[in-house]
Amino acid sequence: MSQRLKLEIKAPAAVEGQDLVILVSDRLALPRAAETAAGEAAQALLTRAARAERFKGKAYAGLTLPAPEGSAYERLIVVGVGSEDDQGELDFVRLGGAIAGRLGAGRTAEIVLALPAGAIEAQQGAELALGLKLRAYAFDRYKTKSKDKDEAEPTAVTLRAADPAALKKTVKAADAIAGGVVLARDLVNEPPNVLYPEEFADRAAKLKKLDVEVDILDEKDLKKIGMRALLGVGQGSRRESRVAIMRWNGAGKDEKPVAFVGKGVTFDTGGISLKPGAGMEDMKGDMAGAACVVGLMHALAARKAKVNAIGVIGLVENMPDGNAQRPGDIVTSLSGQTIEIINTDAEGRLVLADVLWYTQERFKPRFMINLATLTGAILVALAQENAGLFTNSDELAGRLTAAGHATGETVWRMPLGKAYDKMIDSKFADMKNSAGRYAGSITAAQFLQRHVNDTPWAHLDIAGTGMAAKDSEINRSWGPGWGVRLLDRLVADHYEG
Ligand code: BES
Ligand code: MN
Ligand code: ZN
Repeated sequence: MSQRLKLEIKAPAAVEGQDLVILVSDRLALPRAAETAAGEAAQALLTRAARAERFKGKAYAGLTLPAPEGSAYERLIVVGVGSEDDQGELDFVRLGGAIAGRLGAGRTAEIVLALPAGAIEAQQGAELALGLKLRAYAFDRYKTKSKDKDEAEPTAVTLRAADPAALKKTVKAADAIAGGVVLARDLVNEPPNVLYPEEFADRAAKLKKLDVEVDILDEKDLKKIGMRALLGVGQGSRRESRVAIMRWNGAGKDEKPVAFVGKGVTFDTGGISLKPGAGMEDMKGDMAGAACVVGLMHALAARKAKVNAIGVIGLVENMPDGNAQRPGDIVTSLSGQTIEIINTDAEGRLVLADVLWYTQERFKPRFMINLATLTGAILVALAQENAGLFTNSDELAGRLTAAGHATGETVWRMPLGKAYDKMIDSKFADMKNSAGRYAGSITAAQFLQRHVNDTPWAHLDIAGTGMAAKDSEINRSWGPGWGVRLLDRLVADHYEG
């Protein structure tokens, strides 16, 4: 429904599409394969048009031309790859995005997978295909007018590769990742009247189709287990809270799992500590952490990753109501520690406290990474450029930072420490859920750390990166599906086989 691109992979053959996509370096010389497809006159045409349009072949820049006289194509879409000397630097996902941005709705296009410096590899072709799909995504489920529908016509793309069989294989893994990102985006974009905790849990349960084991805990289960911090947040909502547990068993039975935990506040009004009205609609995205975990589990299962992975998401709606939690309330979390509620809008840490403790005690994971749209303060510190990374493990810090650079989903490490921890001591309970404005992201992280023992753990504060995304070459969606590619990469690089 939200995917506007159909992709086929074929060997070089007779012309089929309307648009021919050609990659050129800053030398502006058409690769042999491209010249064959576009015709003799294409090089002279490109040279002339490039001069007129000041097109220099810079990476990700593009130029659209009418095809030469007598050609079977309508247009040539020329996209730059920069200097032939630093082709190693080229981001093929981004390149795919740049290409998709130049193809219109309802067009048929062929991409000649050749670089000026030589044939494109299967791996790079798959990354390009991933970029095409991510850019073509649009959330148009609630657009009913025909004008909008025309824009949603799919673009049909054929990748012409010298070795289509090899490319088909790598594109399959890329499709698994694209599917995970698209799923995460859909969840973040869905309106909060549609996607409440029970519905979110039902969507997670659909992963069963990919052989993921899914268990849903309802309020009765949660009470019995003792997740009173989580339940306290949800008690002001007409919608019941849920916890979803997803298990992908891709490795041996005795191998310890890796674990991912997500904040899934399907809507955050702030509760009795009510948020201001302006912009509150954005708080439908306060489940981006949970969406990422579901998208990641999809990606791992769809590409049959050789890893045992657990996903646990805490699903609640934070509403003001006669039964809502009050500032001043004291709750006992699953860990047995007591928490004084200072601000009902600091709800994410209450949800995570219980699911982190639960995940650690039940699954004894190799590591535990949680994602949460936890604090506005992380936007003050890092804007939308990096997620805040808080961790008790230098090894995880290094690996996450590297995976961030590899995928473009970058993280920046922030401090944890005794002095910050002390800031959440409470007069009446073991701790309080808010310590005021200063170091707001760090004190939130300290709160989470009080619910983690010596398990290697990392907290990603994605309030800046997980929702209300800026447009990029590979994303035009409000919900970017941030973190799926980062964590899939982390797993692929260090925890498989
Ligand atoms: N969900 C919000 C954080 C948030 C803000 C996410 C902006 C995305 C964009 C979180 O529950 C929250 O309200 N945090 C408070 C904490 C404060 C009360 C200690 C905040 O950031 O103001
Ligand atoms: Mn809040
Ligand atoms: Zn929140």
